[in-house]
Amino acid sequence: MLQLTSVDLKKEKTDTLVIPVCEDKTIHEDKTIQFLIKTAKKIEEFKGKKGDEIILYDMTGVKAGRVIFSGLGKLDKVDAEGLRIFSGKTVKTGIKKELTDILIAAPASGKMKMEEPEVIEAILEGACLGNHIFDKYKKEKKLKPIKKICLLVNADTAKKHRKLVSRVAAVCEGTILAREWVTTPSNDKKPEQLARSIVTLAGKVKLKTTILNEKQLKAGKFGSLLAVSAGSQNKPALVILEYNPGNAKKTIAFVGKGVTFDSGGINLKPTSGLSDMKIDMSGAAAVAATLITAAKLKPGKKVIGVIPLVENMPSGSAARPGDIIKSYSGKTVEIGNTDAEGRLILIDAISYTIRKYKPHTIIDMATLTGACVVALGDKIAGVFSPDDKLADAIVKSGKKTHERCWRMPLPDDYKELIKSDLADIKNMSSSRWGGAITAALFLSDFVGDTPWAHIDIAGPAAAAKGGAYCGSGGTGFGVRLLSDLTDRL
Ligand code: BES
Ligand code: ZN
Ligand code: ZN
Repeated sequence: MLQLTSVDLKKEKTDTLVIPVCEDKTIHEDKTIQFLIKTAKKIEEFKGKKGDEIILYDMTGVKAGRVIFSGLGKLDKVDAEGLRIFSGKTVKTGIKKELTDILIAAPASGKMKMEEPEVIEAILEGACLGNHIFDKYKKEKKLKPIKKICLLVNADTAKKHRKLVSRVAAVCEGTILAREWVTTPSNDKKPEQLARSIVTLAGKVKLKTTILNEKQLKAGKFGSLLAVSAGSQNKPALVILEYNPGNAKKTIAFVGKGVTFDSGGINLKPTSGLSDMKIDMSGAAAVAATLITAAKLKPGKKVIGVIPLVENMPSGSAARPGDIIKSYSGKTVEIGNTDAEGRLILIDAISYTIRKYKPHTIIDMATLTGACVVALGDKIAGVFSPDDKLADAIVKSGKKTHERCWRMPLPDDYKELIKSDLADIKNMSSSRWGGAITAALFLSDFVGDTPWAHIDIAGPAAAAKGGAYCGSGGTGFGVRLLSDLTDRL
């Protein structure tokens, strides 16, 4: 679907050529393209300003039937995200026009403020992600994705960056997979069902897969995870995915919160809080899709994905506020609020992962708190880690991928707020403030000496409104981030 090509525009017959144009500077070396831009800029409504778009047909000098000119704005302001937005938007225009293939003219890297691979990666990423349509539940499929997206570069560049194209394709496929899982309604992704879906796809890329069922979880004493699942008729599952390149020296473990629906349990959420809670397994989706992506990218380290899957429901068999349960670690937890369920399933998954795999680094990803959305809005994830190097690496990956992350504090004295009179710890803070921090501090009590980070993605996991390269619903946030991070650690 994605390809780098070098063709002569004067000779090659293409359906649609796309040319990104800057308002103030020339960004193409090709004389033919420069000539086409000159012609386009003669038209009043197109000046190359950010968001400008004009389509011209049968232009002299090229064999393309249609040329789409798309404005990038001022060159100084163009960054990788600007390029993703450009290509995503162009692909969306192409889809609306029912195009089957497009050829995008890459700007010459020498004329941009970015390195060549960065330019190529960003344009391909935006195009590939913008080409995703979620219409599984529609009888009439009104829009069709573009079949072939080519990036026009010179012959040397095409040869040099072939591997980059397959990397971008793998990472985008992973992101789209996570989006689909997140957007799927809860009635079609009950814990055991989602576990099977994950394991089927993971098996196809030769990951080692394990599912622990309810009986095995009971035998294994996953008391905290089971307490969350107790209110639901749908049984829990714990999925383990392993990528092992053989002689690896390092093991990285990712743990993803997989609450397939979060009603709040006995502390039932109000109507407004319930509507989006099918997305409460976005951490699980991101971790599973990252593992599937890793199997394709083949990093030189062992990568483990641990995915606790439960449904949080109120019923006669549900855990109650005030209950005290025994977690996998042996520590007892007082349930102050059944809606703080994410941390309960995570601590068992984290303790199990550390005991079984002794990873060098463990990172959990979770739609954990509304408080994190209050703090950072719905586009930025919160990062919590006592380890400066690990937190920095995550923030750097966030910058590179534009899956933005902001480091938050883990103040020791706030641990007071999650002390219990009766049990070892409480899942609910005694203060209404700083909820994202106290949730992270709760998790920190179960990681021991293992370098650990927690990424709260409650905001960016889903979008109410679509953007340039993502529709509304699950965003697949985390897959690009964790894939980049895997190489950094
Ligand atoms: N799943 C929610 C957090 C959430 C909120 C995710 C908004 C996505 C969007 C989580 O389980 C939850 O309910 N957290 C409570 C914790 C509270 C009871 C301590 C919250 O944030 O209000
Ligand atoms: Zn909850
Ligand atoms: Zn939740």
